[in-house]
Amino acid sequence: MKKLPFTKEQIESLLERHKSPLYIYDEAGIRNFAKELKNTLSWVEKGGYKNYFAVKACPNPHILKILKEEGMGADCSSMAELVLAEKVGLRGEEIMFTSNDTPLEEFQKARELGAVINFDDITHLDFYLENIGQLPELVCFRYNPGNLKEGNEIIGNPVEAKYGLTKEQLFQAYEKASKNGAKRFALHTMVVSNMLDINYHADTLKMLLDLSREIKERLGIELEFLNIGGGLGIPYQPEEKALDLKELSVALESEYKNHLQKGGSAVRIVSEYGRAVTGPYGFLITKVLHLMRKYKDYIGVDASMSNLMRPALYGAYHQITILGKEDMSATHKYDVVGSLCENNDKFAIDRLLPEAEVGDILVLHDAGAHGYAMGFQYNGKLRSAEFLLTKDAKFRQIRRAETLDDYFATLDWNQINS
Ligand SMILES: Cc1ncc(COP(=O)(O)O)c(C=O)c1O
Repeated sequence: MKKLPFTKEQIESLLERHKSPLYIYDEAGIRNFAKELKNTLSWVEKGGYKNYFAVKACPNPHILKILKEEGMGADCSSMAELVLAEKVGLRGEEIMFTSNDTPLEEFQKARELGAVINFDDITHLDFYLENIGQLPELVCFRYNPGNLKEGNEIIGNPVEAKYGLTKEQLFQAYEKASKNGAKRFALHTMVVSNMLDINYHADTLKMLLDLSREIKERLGIELEFLNIGGGLGIPYQPEEKALDLKELSVALESEYKNHLQKGGSAVRIVSEYGRAVTGPYGFLITKVLHLMRKYKDYIGVDASMSNLMRPALYGAYHQITILGKEDMSATHKYDVVGSLCENNDKFAIDRLLPEAEVGDILVLHDAGAHGYAMGFQYNGKLRSAEFLLTKDAKFRQIRRAETLDDYFATLDWNQINS
C-alpha cells in the first residue's frame, strides 16, 4: 500500500474543523517531483527543458505558484486557465495555449498575454488572421500523426481524434504562417495519456525530431522547440511501477543524439505534463456514512463521483486506504459508492479492504490530477475544499468548500417569487 504524507491523527484534527470530503496536496512531493524532472532533463540544449504544467490537471493558483517557483510554465486550454496563469504572474512564452475548437476571445486573451499559441487546426490560421490580425512572431502547430501512433483509451486513437493537423496540413500551415509574418516556429503533439511505457514517450520525440528535419528540408524552416505533450503515466494500480525519470531521460537523449547525428539541428524540448506532476501528491479524504448490505456489500462515503469522476468515467483505479487500518488484512469485498443517483457513482468495485465501520476515514490515492478539476454539481452536490500540506507539515486551505449560496449564486430568486 502506498505511503501517506500525513497521519490519521492529523486528518482527524483537520476534520474537526473542516467538512469532509476534502482534497489534500502534498507540497513537498510536488516540489520534489518538479525538481527531479528539471534536473534529469538538464541536458536539453538551447535554453533548456521546460514543463508547461497542464493547468487542467489541477487548476488551483496556489499549486501553479509553487510550480512557477520550480521553473514550470503553464499549458492553458481555456479562458479561465489563461486567467489563472496570469494571476500567478506567468507571462509571455511562459504560457502555452493549447486549445481546440477555440473561441475568438480565448485567442485574444492568449495574444494579450503574449502566450505561445499552439494552433490546433489549419483553418484557425485564417480565423486568427481575419479576426485578430497579425500572427504572433512565434507560432506552434499541434500535429496529429493519424495511424502512425495508436493513442489509448483516455485520449483516443489519433485517426479518430479531433485534434491537430495532418502531416500535409502541417507543411501548408508553416508556409502560410511564414507568409503572414510568423518568424519563429514550434511543433507540438499529444498522442497519449497516462502512459508508463518509456519507449512510447521516446518514440513520440523521435517522431517530432524526424518531422523537424523534414520541415527543414522541405520548407527551410528551423523549429525552435518541440513540445512532446503530456501523458506521462503514474502507477494507479498496486502492481504498477512508477516510471523512472532517469530512464526516461536516457531514452529521450538517445533519440536526440540520433537526430543530431542525422544532421538535425539543435532544438529545445518541452512538455506539458500534468498528471505526473500533481497526481500522486493529491488525496481525496472522505468519511464512511453508511455500510449497506444488498446483493453486494457497499461502503457509502460522503464523497461522490462529482468530487472524483475518473473511476466512473474511465473505470479508473484509485488505491484506497482506511486510516488506522493500514496493517489489517483486506478480508472484505466492497463496492465503495457515493450518493449520486447514478449507479456508476462508484470509487471502487469488488475492492478487498479491511472491515469498514461507519465514521472510518478513507483516503483515495493519486487524486491530485484530473480529480478536483473534473468536479461537477450534478444532483446539487457542492465542490469540496482543497488543502495544501505545506513543507512545514501544516494544512493550509487553498480553496474553501462551496456553499449552497455559491450553488444558487447564478439564480435570481426575486424573478422566481414575483
Ligand atoms: C493538450 C494537452 N496537454 C497536456 C495534457 C496533460 O496530460 P497529462 O495530465 O496526462 O500529463 C492534456 C490532458 O488532457 C492535454 O489535453
